[in-house]
Amino acid sequence: MPAPHMPIERGPRIGTNLLRQSRTQFKKSRVCLTRSSLIWFLLAQLLAWSTFAAAADTQHEQIVAEKVESLVARMTLTEKIGQLNLISQGEPVEEQLASVRAGRVGAMLNVVDPAIIDRYREAASQSRLKIPLLFGLDAVDVFRIAFPPPIAWAATFRPELAEAASRSVAGETAAIGVNWTFAPMVDISRDPRWGRVVEGAGEDPYLGSVMAAARVRGYLAGGLMPTAKHFVGYGAGESGRDYNGALIPTSDLYDRYLPPFQAAFNAGAQTVMGALNAINGVPATANAFLMYRVLRRDMGFKGFVTSDYNAIGELINHGLAADLAAASRLALKAGIDLDMEGYGYDRHLAAELAASRVTQIQIDHAVARILTVKFNMGLFDEWSRKTAPPEAETRKIARQIARESFVLLKNDNTVLPIATGVKTIALIGDAAKTDFDESWYGPAGLTQPATQTLYDAMKERLAPGQSIVYEPAFADRCGKSLADDAAAVRAAERADVIVLIVTEDCEFSGEGTSRANLDLSTAQQTVLDRLSATGKPLVLVVTAGRPLTLTAAAAKAQAILYAWLPRTEGRAALAEILTGEVNPSGKLPMSLPRSVGQIPISYDVLPTSRPPTESRYTSRYLDENVTPLYPFGFGLSYTTFEYTKLRPQSVVLDLAGSMFIDVDVTNTGSRSGQEVVQLYVRRPVASRSRPIRELKGFQKIALRPGETRTVRFDLHGRALAFHDDEGKRVEEPGPVQIFVGGSSQATLSADLVMK
Ligand code: GLC
Repeated sequence: MPAPHMPIERGPRIGTNLLRQSRTQFKKSRVCLTRSSLIWFLLAQLLAWSTFAAAADTQHEQIVAEKVESLVARMTLTEKIGQLNLISQGEPVEEQLASVRAGRVGAMLNVVDPAIIDRYREAASQSRLKIPLLFGLDAVDVFRIAFPPPIAWAATFRPELAEAASRSVAGETAAIGVNWTFAPMVDISRDPRWGRVVEGAGEDPYLGSVMAAARVRGYLAGGLMPTAKHFVGYGAGESGRDYNGALIPTSDLYDRYLPPFQAAFNAGAQTVMGALNAINGVPATANAFLMYRVLRRDMGFKGFVTSDYNAIGELINHGLAADLAAASRLALKAGIDLDMEGYGYDRHLAAELAASRVTQIQIDHAVARILTVKFNMGLFDEWSRKTAPPEAETRKIARQIARESFVLLKNDNTVLPIATGVKTIALIGDAAKTDFDESWYGPAGLTQPATQTLYDAMKERLAPGQSIVYEPAFADRCGKSLADDAAAVRAAERADVIVLIVTEDCEFSGEGTSRANLDLSTAQQTVLDRLSATGKPLVLVVTAGRPLTLTAAAAKAQAILYAWLPRTEGRAALAEILTGEVNPSGKLPMSLPRSVGQIPISYDVLPTSRPPTESRYTSRYLDENVTPLYPFGFGLSYTTFEYTKLRPQSVVLDLAGSMFIDVDVTNTGSRSGQEVVQLYVRRPVASRSRPIRELKGFQKIALRPGETRTVRFDLHGRALAFHDDEGKRVEEPGPVQIFVGGSSQATLSADLVMK
């Protein structure tokens, strides 16, 4: 199983003619540059040209490069700046259409009505050069059928399902004429206080890379150009607060945050969205180091970079620019090609050029990068409307990805699945009757597709003689206030098993939803405590877009099922799991902390000088365990699995070679089930302190009761490289430990040596 983990490769060589050209441009620019910014200015020029020239690596790229150069040569300055202008569709429509006809708009976002898209497309065809528009949308996991969110896709540990889901969402969206999606979000995050973890693949760079590539393949197959976002380090914002700055050491940048972007580019993503926040004090939107040295040189990215929504204008808030004109020139120089809804390029670039505060080359290269992607997308070819995938197929994928995303965290006395002998089930929580899905980024105004509530889906699956008693318990869908909780207790007292569903939904995850407290709400914990006091077996179902702190809940519930945001097909899938029709197989893509005080938290921590023990003078808390409540990669099944005979092909792993690692996995339980077999490595001695574990492979397998399967991993020496403080790859010999099991706490291990 080749490790898809893509080490960061050096990009194309820098062209010598750029040096000559940039000296000329630099003299003209008369920009007062300090020594360091002079270096970055020159490098930006060098790399801008090298990127453009290097775009012609293959014959196809050569053909496109010639078309682009010929088109750029015919464009007026207004038309060039127009290609750098991405606006949100809105009133007055006629004014916007006139701008499009005048060549002053290159891309639109948030148009979800096909008739309106057609009007803007028609307007572009009436412009002088007829350059087609990009129509961008946050087509992530919801267009018509609402899929579970990407964090749930990661919990399946099945990239093929993530690919299929992305393809479905893209297919529905492309059918209305959208051609570009602002997805996948590939931000690694170890901080569930940040509400946008819902859009990503969790805390791990390897899982994040595999899922990034799968989602890119899916969006492309569905007809949309993907955007890898948010470049870079948006998920590391201080204190878990959205938009907050992140301080990321260069070695960590290359080891943890860049790999999913590299995987996305290698899978075909040709656009990147800059992050809204500052990285090490410099906003991504004005960060030439990130956009040229890292993105274009080191990672070899040849596509275009769009700002995030008004991110150029927000350079003023960041304190980098006194006004929009200054912000616009900073962004252009830093390599931001497209201005999303900032109107800075539209209003100020011509004057900035006239004043020689930006150069024609900078504008031309931004235009060329955008036009190159438009040609690569086939936008200049004959346009034909796509048809949406068959709804039944989309629903089937949505059902399966939901089924495999649920994570069974606890199941004392196998209270789950609910046995057919259980006569009365108390189903508590108004979310059991929810049939409405909202998503902060899903297109507004579209009809909600047919769906089932959990209550109806459970009723359909009752065994003969079984019954359900339902009580809402909460007065609102976010579980913030109590309804008649006494009635809930009475229902529980009549029942043999209690299923309490609590939700974090209601726009509690996504952009702008950072939380300082991740406990269940007071009302939710109150109901849980009262139901638990009845002494009946209590199953807790949590629907949330992020890890919550469930320590108090885990003390009361006999079973906990993490269902993320199940949505259109997921509520029925939940009933399939609760009644045992389907065996849960999800694993945690993020550690579940015991308390907020442990955050940031992840499994791949460094060993520290004094690893935590009971002793006072070690890396521990006086008032909390250092381990998560439930660790990365963890998830139970209705059956059990045993790992034996870990057999590396050799004890020596060549730095430039690879080896097979075999392990036997047996289903030791009484029913079929799926297991995510995970391979972790550790480098106990190296030139830098290395994580106590790093995921380097996983395979999800299905086993019948009693069946044993040999699972083979293909571990490459290159996958154990890391980066130094300059971002340089370090491949060095030394001891390596491998661990294989069903979570990041795997114990079956072997020792190797890398040479
Ligand atoms: C938002 C988000 C970004 C999204 C964009 C367009 O601010 O940060 O992820 O794609 O705006 O909606």
